[in-house]
Amino acid sequence: KSMKTLKIGLLGLGQVGSGFYSIFEAKHKSLSQKCGAKLNLAQVAVHNLTKKRKVRFQSSLLTKNALSVVKNPEINLVIELIGGIHPAKELILTALRSGKDVITANKALLAEHGQELFREAQKNGRHLLFEASVGGGIPVIKTIREGLVGNEIDSIQAIINGTSNFILSKMTEEHLDFAEALRLARKEGFAEADPTLDIEGIDAAHKLTILASLVFGGWVPFQAIYVSGISSIRSEDIEFADEFGFKIKLLAVAKKTKSGVEAHVRPTLLSDSHVLSRVNGSNNAVLIHGDRVGDLLLCGQGAGSQPTGSAVMSDVVDIARLRASSSENPDCTISSKVLSVRNASSLLSRYYLRFHVVDRPGVLSKISFVLGEYRISISDVIQKERRDGRIVPLILLTHPTPEQSIQDAVKKIDRLAVTQGKAQVLRIEES
Ligand code: HSE
Repeated sequence: KSMKTLKIGLLGLGQVGSGFYSIFEAKHKSLSQKCGAKLNLAQVAVHNLTKKRKVRFQSSLLTKNALSVVKNPEINLVIELIGGIHPAKELILTALRSGKDVITANKALLAEHGQELFREAQKNGRHLLFEASVGGGIPVIKTIREGLVGNEIDSIQAIINGTSNFILSKMTEEHLDFAEALRLARKEGFAEADPTLDIEGIDAAHKLTILASLVFGGWVPFQAIYVSGISSIRSEDIEFADEFGFKIKLLAVAKKTKSGVEAHVRPTLLSDSHVLSRVNGSNNAVLIHGDRVGDLLLCGQGAGSQPTGSAVMSDVVDIARLRASSSENPDCTISSKVLSVRNASSLLSRYYLRFHVVDRPGVLSKISFVLGEYRISISDVIQKERRDGRIVPLILLTHPTPEQSIQDAVKKIDRLAVTQGKAQVLRIEES
C-alpha cells in the first residue's frame, strides 16, 4: 500500500527553525516509517535569502514569500517559527482557512490571540499544535494532554523562563549582581530578542496562559495574570532568603480553587526542601499535581535550538499520524470558554519583606506597629549588624496574610522617615 505524503511548509529558520531543520534532515526517513506517512519538506520561507546559515540547504526550497507557502495548495502542514504577533497571526489564520494543519512555537501569539486561532482551527476542522511553545524540549503539552488524561489537574508550579532562572542561579551560586548575570545570560543566547520579556516575567506569563488554559479546560486570559519580574531582586535578597532557608525563583503558579482560578508569575521564595528550588541554570521545570497521579515533575531544557526543534518534530509526527489514521482528535484544542481569574490582592500567603532603615532605637517598633495595624503577624526577623547610624537592611517574614494588607502596610512603611527607598516584597510559596 502506498504511503500518504505529508507536505510541509516551514516559516522561519531562526534558532528554532534551524534546530528543527537539522533534526528533520537527520530523521525524516526513519520517522516516516514510524508514523506511516512520508514526511516531505516542500518549502521554507525566510526573511533573508542570502544570509549565511549553519544548516546546509537546497536553495530551491527557499522563498521570501511566506504568504505563498501558506496558500500553496500542495502543502498540508505549515510550521510557523517566525515569532512575534504580525504577520505570524495572519499567516496562521490563512493556513487554517486554506485547510492546512498548523504547528507553532509562538507563545506570545497563543497567549494573546489563542482563542481566535483555536476557534479558527476548529471551524476548519484543522489541528493547531504547539508543543514547542512551552518549556522548549520538555514534552509538557503532550504529557498533560495524553499521559495525564485520567487526571483532574488542580495545580501547576513552574519555572518556565530559562533566562530568569539562569540569572537568579548565577546570582545565587556566584554572588553576581543582577546586571552582571543578565550580561552573561545574553551571551548564552537563550534570551528573547527583547530580554525585557524574559526578566519582567512576560514570557513566563505567556507560557502560563497556555498551560493554565490547557489544564483548566477554558481560557485563562493573559491580561488577568498578575506578573512581576526579577529586575528588582538584589544580591542581598538572595543572601537573606538563603539565611532563612529559601531560594528565590521566578515562579509561575496556576491553581484551581473553589473561588476561581489563581494565576500569577512572580519572584518567589521557595524552601530549600521544595523540589523546584533545586532547578538551576537555564533549565525549566513544571510541577503538576493531578488528583490521581499526585505530584509529577518534568524538568529539562526550556530553550535552545535542538531541544525546541525536537518538540516541533514531535508535533509533526503527531500530525502525520492523525492524518494517516484520519481520526478526529477534538482534544487537540483549547476550549474558548473564558475562566475567571481571582484578583491577586485577595490571595493569602506568607511574605518576605526587606526594608532599608536607619539604625536607631525604636525603628523596629515603628515598623511592627504599622504591620500590627494591618493585622500582619511576623514570624521571623533579621536585622544586620549596626553600622553607626547608617542605613541597614531589616528583613521580616510574615505569617499568611492577604496580599492587599501587605501592599497597604508596606506603602505606609515606605513613607516613614526611618525607612529609605522602596521595600522589597516577595511571596513565599509553601511546599
Ligand atoms: N526566552 C525563553 C527563556 C526561551 O529564556 O526561557 C524560549 O521560550
